[in-house]
Amino acid sequence: MTDPKLSVLISSERIQARIRELGEQISRDYSSGNLHLICILKGACFFLTDLARAMQRDVFVDFMGISTYGKGKTTSGEVKVTKDLDISLEGADVLIVEDIVDSGVTLTYLLHVLEQRKPRSLRIAALLDKPERRLRPVEVKYVGFQIPDRFVVGYGLDYAEKYRNLDAICVLDDAGAPA
Ligand code: IMP
Ligand code: MG
Repeated sequence: MTDPKLSVLISSERIQARIRELGEQISRDYSSGNLHLICILKGACFFLTDLARAMQRDVFVDFMGISTYGKGKTTSGEVKVTKDLDISLEGADVLIVEDIVDSGVTLTYLLHVLEQRKPRSLRIAALLDKPERRLRPVEVKYVGFQIPDRFVVGYGLDYAEKYRNLDAICVLDDAGAPA
């Protein structure tokens, strides 16, 4: 990592080791039935592809586009669906795969939307959790790492669409990214 604005918070090795553990745990918890992994675009796509491959069972993969944040670092509080699912969820076990839970606004909205599709079960897996920032209580069944209240980028997470392809989770120096 040569960018002076970035400092590594969680290395690629730690991310991959934790995802292997989560994949094993989720595979054990869902030993039968149709399991749908719902990737929340765009941030969660790196997590989804590694998590799906760490699982020892068949899964369905589908994508949902949600917009909450603008180009900066603060939420607008508004949530809207920008791309809907292709596959029906009726009677299926559904796991929402998200990059990070911050205020909880996005996931609260999404749970409400997906419950109406009549899944058999509905749970959340998030790579990162910033519990200090929560505004809406939301139960996250599978969490990769709890992190402090810092703005992070990498492994799918962006600042103004940049830094998603870093293989580590990095803190972005405030000087490099004014709010
Ligand atoms: P929430 O609705 O406040 O929980 O926001 C969740 C969404 O905000 C995530 O899916 C991310 O897209 C974005 N987000 C929250 N915190 C960060 C961060 O530290 N870095 C990059 N994106 C973030
Ligand atoms: Mg997101």
